[in-house]
Amino acid sequence: MSQPIITQLSYFSQVEKKGTLVLLIDNSGEISSSLELEGLDKDLMKSLIELRNFKGERFKYLEICALAKNSYDRVIFLGVGNSSEFFSDDWIKLGGVCRGALVDTLQVTLIMQLKERELCDDEIEDFICGFKLRNYNFDKYCTNKVSKKEPLKIVFQTKTIERVKKSLERAEKLADAVMMTRDFVNEPANILGTEEFCIKIQELKTLGVEINVFDDQKLEKNGFAALLSVSRASRRPARLVMMQWKGSSFENQTIAFVGKGVIFDSGGISLKPSASMEEMKGDMAGAAAVVGTIFSLASRKAKVNVVGVVGLVENMPGGNALRPGDILTSLSGKTIEVINTDAEGRLVLADLLWFTKEHFKPLLMIDIATLTGAIRVALGQHYAGLFSNDDVLVERLCAAGTRTGERLWRMPLGKEYDCIVDSKIADMRNCTGRDAGSVTAAQFLKRFVGDTPWAHLDIAGTAIASIKNDYNESWGSGFGVRLLDSFAHYYEDNM
Ligand code: BES
Ligand code: MG
Ligand code: ZN
Repeated sequence: MSQPIITQLSYFSQVEKKGTLVLLIDNSGEISSSLELEGLDKDLMKSLIELRNFKGERFKYLEICALAKNSYDRVIFLGVGNSSEFFSDDWIKLGGVCRGALVDTLQVTLIMQLKERELCDDEIEDFICGFKLRNYNFDKYCTNKVSKKEPLKIVFQTKTIERVKKSLERAEKLADAVMMTRDFVNEPANILGTEEFCIKIQELKTLGVEINVFDDQKLEKNGFAALLSVSRASRRPARLVMMQWKGSSFENQTIAFVGKGVIFDSGGISLKPSASMEEMKGDMAGAAAVVGTIFSLASRKAKVNVVGVVGLVENMPGGNALRPGDILTSLSGKTIEVINTDAEGRLVLADLLWFTKEHFKPLLMIDIATLTGAIRVALGQHYAGLFSNDDVLVERLCAAGTRTGERLWRMPLGKEYDCIVDSKIADMRNCTGRDAGSVTAAQFLKRFVGDTPWAHLDIAGTAIASIKNDYNESWGSGFGVRLLDSFAHYYEDNM
């Protein structure tokens, strides 16, 4: 059967029969005695759990079929392990495991109760978020699958529906934001060019987000020479898009998210090898994460002032392309000797960071970018690289990473690395030797942030060609949205 889509979350306090029933089982292996399971024999279920030697291990599940007439088609016992200790993204994973366990089912009843207690708001939010994220599938171009999609109905059984409804709404908004980002990243560059992406971003206006766009003429007039150098040989015009969400009355407290939006990175004249070049359609994952984050903050009406700034360009070779050897005068006035046209992300971000700092004078700036292949060599696909000039910022970002499972690992910055970026004939060069490639890239960016507290997230290992996990089966993981949304909590009013 085809992959069902969730079209309806409905909330009932009564158990609806048929379909699949999901029960949470902790490591005692026992079913809560307070649970009313009409039509089901609890003793029989208990013996079956024992017989199959299921101990309620976290992330494992046991499925049993056709227990009684006129009852559920099957029951899934979802293991939660030790119910007094949950960490990090455990509940998101549990939601994902639950969705993964449902095959050939169009209706599921979830009973969100542990043996001793009901789940708290955050646990429910995480669970549903994980459930929805696991359900995501980018198969819109598989013509044979699309037409067969059927709705999956989830019935949520709980005693305290009103309280739980809020968590469900929050989960849906956050999951929608992540899925929007995944869609952007998965979409190929022939469909999502710079202009198309820009038009999509404008849809955030309906949520009350202020949008401003600089087209290539305006960029030229304003001196964005580094950013424009990257898109020179592309048929797709460059765009800079600013998204402002003003949710707080403290006017001066703006935090800024800056995203690399290279819709396709061929490498330019320093052309990449063909193997895996198609992956470079995802070189706008940083920009996509910024858009998803602003979407999430605006849709939950977060009491915070944020601005998202993304630079949308395509890096192509051609008669008009940027050459190795060229010297650019960036927006900041600093000059850059281009050594390698494939080190284009830092050229885009140099102008974006400088502009954001000067124009918005933000409290802090965080840029997010698929910047270097070297970060994947260093950290693999489990942690994104974090570079920063501010220890408090690092602490808050790492905490948000632990909470959401979008983990960050701090990498070094320092004078020893900074001087590697110097050029003999300009202020700096855009490409250095092989050593510490992610660090020297970050050092390059640091030259454009002044004294502003700043962090740089290198997501080249975590945002694209993702390894599957309990709540992500998508090529583009949507990395960064849950992280930055969670991080923004520190800056919300009445915190
Ligand atoms: N977009 C790439 C980085 C990248 C590589 C992202 C693999 C995702 C997966 C970036 O523009 C790039 O080409 N970086 C070069 C830098 C080098 C020329 C200094 C790299 O990593 O090889
Ligand atoms: Mg490149
Ligand atoms: Zn790139």
